[in-house]
Amino acid sequence: ATAPAGLLAPKDLFGAERVNARGFDLTDEEMLAQIDAVRDVTLPDAAPLTVASPAGQHRPVVNPATGEVIAHVTEADAETVAAAITNAAPWTAPVATRADVLRKAADLYEANFGLIFAALAKEAGKTLPDAVGELREAVDFLRYYALEAEKSDMAPRGVFTAISPWNFPLAIFTGQIAAGLATGNAVLAKPAEQTPLIAAIAVRLLHEAGVPTHALQLLPGEGATVGADLTSDARVSGVVFTGSTDTALLIRRAMAANMVPSAPLIAETGGLNAMIVDSTALPEQAVRDIVASAFRSAGQRCSALRCLYVQEDVAPHLIEMIKGAMDQLVVADPWLLSTDVGPVIDEEAQSQINAYISAAQAEGRVLHQRAAPEVGHFVAPTLIKVDGIQTLEREIFGPVLHVATFKGRDLEKVIAAVNAKGYGLTFGLHTRIDTRVQEVADGIHVGNLYVNRNQIGAIVGSQPFGGEGLSGTGPKAGGPLYLKRFVQPQAAGAAG
Ligand code: NAD
Ligand code: ALA
Repeated sequence: ATAPAGLLAPKDLFGAERVNARGFDLTDEEMLAQIDAVRDVTLPDAAPLTVASPAGQHRPVVNPATGEVIAHVTEADAETVAAAITNAAPWTAPVATRADVLRKAADLYEANFGLIFAALAKEAGKTLPDAVGELREAVDFLRYYALEAEKSDMAPRGVFTAISPWNFPLAIFTGQIAAGLATGNAVLAKPAEQTPLIAAIAVRLLHEAGVPTHALQLLPGEGATVGADLTSDARVSGVVFTGSTDTALLIRRAMAANMVPSAPLIAETGGLNAMIVDSTALPEQAVRDIVASAFRSAGQRCSALRCLYVQEDVAPHLIEMIKGAMDQLVVADPWLLSTDVGPVIDEEAQSQINAYISAAQAEGRVLHQRAAPEVGHFVAPTLIKVDGIQTLEREIFGPVLHVATFKGRDLEKVIAAVNAKGYGLTFGLHTRIDTRVQEVADGIHVGNLYVNRNQIGAIVGSQPFGGEGLSGTGPKAGGPLYLKRFVQPQAAGAAG
């Protein structure tokens, strides 16, 4: 069949099987008209989607770009969570059936792109290019895990709790669920407090595709209540989590106290991601990649660049170029195609990041700032100077880039300083010295090392994504080992 206008043909990276999602041509007038048609769509309210009748508190959901209430969510109460765990039953259909249903869900996601883009923009403040990337990643996860599960039918563990963050409210939410379902587990999905509407849209599409209700239930609510209940019940056989390192540690303790010792925690957590630019790097390319890595998605990616190390000889020139590039950033309504940087997720995030920037300002460390709209939860993209080869104390989850300089002979010290913090998610390197690539690859302890490109946007199936140390347990999402943690170890071993 011919694809509708504006839908790009998918790349066949895996032979005949179509795994990676279609692209959306945002220069195509017909496509833009279709997207514009949903601009004012009313997003459906969200509520628990469970086997038994749900109950709970109503709460408004707010658009971070405007502060307006866009819909309401009913958060699951303790009885609803308990009933969902009781009613959860693994998906016993043959793996080929499960895989076909997940593929059908992928098609439904693609077909409902307008509603999904609107929800990503209105609820999570995503720009249109980010919304396109997020929808494609979600579709990739569905198709990729379907394909991986079919390669070796493995015995499920039972019931998985899936806890996801607001910054990839569709892609990570869907990826966790797809992995659990592809392997035949029941999944109890708790989305982040900030993004229940997108989660409800996704679960409705998964149910419509044929996922049974007892195999996939949605439980919106607070982490401290719904999340805690779902990660401290002996009937749950494993937890898949993406979010902060602190929350992962809380969950590990709760699981240790309540679940069987073999119950796995698959956790993808935060990072203090750095990039080295040496004096041989191509400045124009480096600056483009620095700005994308630090400011795209308003810096709200776990993979985002937080601290840039520039070799001293080229630093003054490169920093001036970064300032110039920051001045070109359009910080505005995420729905406008010209927008580069949308809002941060909510008022709390905005005030925490702004307090951090103010403290740096008081110390005279702010090198440059781009203005941001005053209405809505926007934060001005900011460049902050770091003295010496220091690393950051904590992850600032917003459009804030730190820059330090180093002498050529101190490259090893930079690598040692980055490693010393114990996080290891992404790392960027810009150099034209081949041996340096190997030197950094051998020395740096990270999950994903990117050379002469930006360090965000790993592609499912081609670039498995995940960190080391405080950044995650592995196995990497979107890679061939991921599903093995969702199944009985004997089966995984036999299949491997
Ligand atoms: P968070 O840890 O605050 O929340 C994540 C999820 O955990 C939410 O659904 C929340 O409700 C739930 N939660 C909170 N307390 C809980 C508890 N006691 N028990 C069970 N669940 C609980 O993180 P966030 O602010 O939503 O997301 C941002 C963080 O996520 C950043 O640190 C970022 O680096 C990280 N992240 C990592 C990856 C990755 O792939 N490594 C991807 C995206 C985000
Ligand atoms: N997978 C996401 C990225 O690579 C987090 O940016």
